[in-house]
Amino acid sequence: FGSLKEAFKEDFLIGTALGAEHILEKDSKANELIKKQFNAITPENHMKSMNIHPEWNRYDFFLGDKFVEYGQKNNMYVVGHTLVWHSQLPRFVGKIKSADSLKLFMTDHINTVAGRYAGKINSWDVVNEAIEDDGTFRKSIFYKLLGEDFIKMSFDLAAKADPKAELYYNDYNNEQPVKRKATIEMIKKLKASGTKIDGVGIQGHWSINSLKIQDIEDAIVEYSALGLKVAFTELDLTVLPNPWDLKGADVNQNFENSPKMNPYPKELPDSVQTTLAQKYEELFKVFLKHKDKIDRITFWGVEDGHSWLNGWPVRGRTNYPLLFDRNFEPKKAYQAVMNLKNTK
Ligand code: G3I
Repeated sequence: FGSLKEAFKEDFLIGTALGAEHILEKDSKANELIKKQFNAITPENHMKSMNIHPEWNRYDFFLGDKFVEYGQKNNMYVVGHTLVWHSQLPRFVGKIKSADSLKLFMTDHINTVAGRYAGKINSWDVVNEAIEDDGTFRKSIFYKLLGEDFIKMSFDLAAKADPKAELYYNDYNNEQPVKRKATIEMIKKLKASGTKIDGVGIQGHWSINSLKIQDIEDAIVEYSALGLKVAFTELDLTVLPNPWDLKGADVNQNFENSPKMNPYPKELPDSVQTTLAQKYEELFKVFLKHKDKIDRITFWGVEDGHSWLNGWPVRGRTNYPLLFDRNFEPKKAYQAVMNLKNTK
């Protein structure tokens, strides 16, 4: 079979998230696939502050350094993920009580991490997930102690620490109208205050059961109208039911053995493969239509076995959200996407 990055090379970058096993090249089949298919990489977990900055005075750059080397060695576009996020924070940050201490942490963190990789990272997800679905600011420790200024502060620090990197604001559900509107307002304010911001990341954690293509297209057009690049930064399509939609006994069962919660423990039936392929095709049609506005499509994982969606929002399920199966073989969805470029 062919190569995604080759097929779409005139259109946008095709990326994937890497785990430690990929960066350390522990799995030759996975690494072969990564190098053939993708020209952009994002660290799935190891540049998050909890991992890279475990204590006030201690950083751990082991995997971060290897990740950047991997990208450079293989001529890939390297994404830094993520400088300021309410989740996966080191324990000591949870104990911070004053605005000044929090600023001290942010300043040290951004200067040290973005500074270390300055000139080697193509783009940083500077701030991740600052806005709630209802359009209000998330009441994170950053917002509680610093107000919405923490966003400007983060971007300004990142711009200084790594003047060459493109700076992104990254979020989920930010294609949806209410959250999109709030995000646009936030970005307009940032720009008006002279802050450098280059792009918006739409994560793209969607479901084959509720994909809203029109919202996605509107979001591409509206974010791009702000003069920003648009990237799809964490794309995957769950094929499993949302546990919140199920009731009673199904929810309380052992998930692995629940036919409703984990309907495809062994393999994905053909009919669902086809639906997944159709949904990816619809998505990529829109991406291609707006390729002049889109910089990158990054999948959140290499193959189905390596997806976080096997463990979220409940553990012990078998999911199939990506283009490659657990044997590193292309799925129907891969073919559907490649067909759009008349290639296999
Ligand atoms: O590495 C430890 C392992 O030693 C331990 O035994 C195990 C027990 O729970 O946990 C392992 O760490 C987990 C880590 O993934 C690596 O697998 C963490 O618990 C788990 O919370 C972590 O989940 C990650 C999640 O972000 C939270 O950081 C997912 O892999 C990662 O895919 C997900 O990615 C996020 C993006 O960064 C931001 N947007 C949403 C996206 C999905 O949640």
